[in-house]
Amino acid sequence: MWLPLHTRTLCRRRFVAALLKLPRHRDHANVCPFSHSAGLSAQTCRALLHRKHGDPCQVVQLEDVALPSLGSKGVLVKMLAAPVNPSDINMIQGTYAILPDLPAVGGNEGVGQVVQVGSQVKSLKTGDWVIPRDAGLGTWRTEAVLAEDDVIAVPNNIPLLSAATLGVNPCTAFRMLTDFEDLKPGDSVIQNAANSGVGQAVIQIAAAKGINTINVVRDRPEFSQLSERLKAIGASHVIKEEELRRPEMKELFKTCPKPKLALNGVGGKSATELLRHLKVGGSMVTYGGMSKQPVTVPVSALIFKDVKVRGFWVTQWKKDHSHDGRAFRSMLDELCSLIQQGKLTAPACAEVGLKDYNKALNSAMQPFTTAKQVLIM
Ligand SMILES: NC(=O)c1ccc[n+]([C@@H]2O[C@H](COP(=O)([O-])OP(=O)(O)OC[C@H]3O[C@@H](n4cnc5c(N)ncnc54)[C@H](OP(=O)(O)O)[C@@H]3O)[C@@H](O)[C@H]2O)c1
Repeated sequence: MWLPLHTRTLCRRRFVAALLKLPRHRDHANVCPFSHSAGLSAQTCRALLHRKHGDPCQVVQLEDVALPSLGSKGVLVKMLAAPVNPSDINMIQGTYAILPDLPAVGGNEGVGQVVQVGSQVKSLKTGDWVIPRDAGLGTWRTEAVLAEDDVIAVPNNIPLLSAATLGVNPCTAFRMLTDFEDLKPGDSVIQNAANSGVGQAVIQIAAAKGINTINVVRDRPEFSQLSERLKAIGASHVIKEEELRRPEMKELFKTCPKPKLALNGVGGKSATELLRHLKVGGSMVTYGGMSKQPVTVPVSALIFKDVKVRGFWVTQWKKDHSHDGRAFRSMLDELCSLIQQGKLTAPACAEVGLKDYNKALNSAMQPFTTAKQVLIM
């Protein structure tokens, strides 16, 4: 998340680390003794490690990581796929709200398959697909030995890319559409960064609930193709940032109700423009700051429209609900059901082999990218 930070919380994951059954690549001179747990075995996995903060293309390296033994409560997971999200980039740059101890393996989400379970593991079995319960797990690796509670099972009959990108963006979209306004079929939501992973999930989850979406994207040469693509997944309207100020917006609101909810992943002028169109008493929820500009709220929006200006962070939501696994489980069940019905697809993705990680990291930091970079292990 492109947010300036005032406080940094060290994220000390248990990181029970990883165990490799069939080593693929051996370069023992370069084995990193990276693990927070005792009981290291001689085995390794391959992992994208950073030893200091900085430009991801400079500081991330593919290394062998020494692994602990499984233990009775451990779960051996073979990672299958893991995306490169803006927050992963920010963690490596050292600008995110939670930072793991260094050296650290990058990646906060992804899907893996359980290969082996310890004798006391109850909730998981071999063959299950699992995703992290929380941020900071370090998913850019070939294998991991994790604690049972570090992961949660998802159906293994959903598309790989849907599973790999399920735990962050669709959950964020789901919560923002659920927790801030009582949205009914026929209501509207306006959002910027509508082509982002979050934005595409918002479009699809809203469409499944009969909610209109007004989707704002930055202008680009291939705007029409992008607009068609977003409409194909359920966008009601797709408009360019600069159109938000134009009188034509009045035409749009002749057929579409004023939005009760605005979702802001950009900040700056873009957020202010969203507020101009919000219904009286509506909420704007900020979840990202891709423009790196602060949110300015016009006085008139507060006085004459009494808008609510809120924020959302899915990591905090997961933390707040960690004592009650049912809330996360029931959200995942609902999202997976939408996936199985073909109503929620993964964002456009570029699949990149782990060894080509530099290409993926570089592409993930370019503007006007059309595809989420997903590392395939
Ligand atoms: N708060 C939370 O819980 C939470 C959860 C998930 C994600 N997020 C945040 O949400 C944001 C989007 O994440 P994502 O994974 O969906 O991203 P993504 O798929 O990588 O897409 C990035 C989006 O940001 C836009 N963008 C990039 N630079 C921009 C700029 N300077 N001005 C305006 N728009 C810009 C891109 O538009 P173009 O195509 O025009 O470049 C694209 O729509 C990130 O800030 C992320 O950290 C927050």
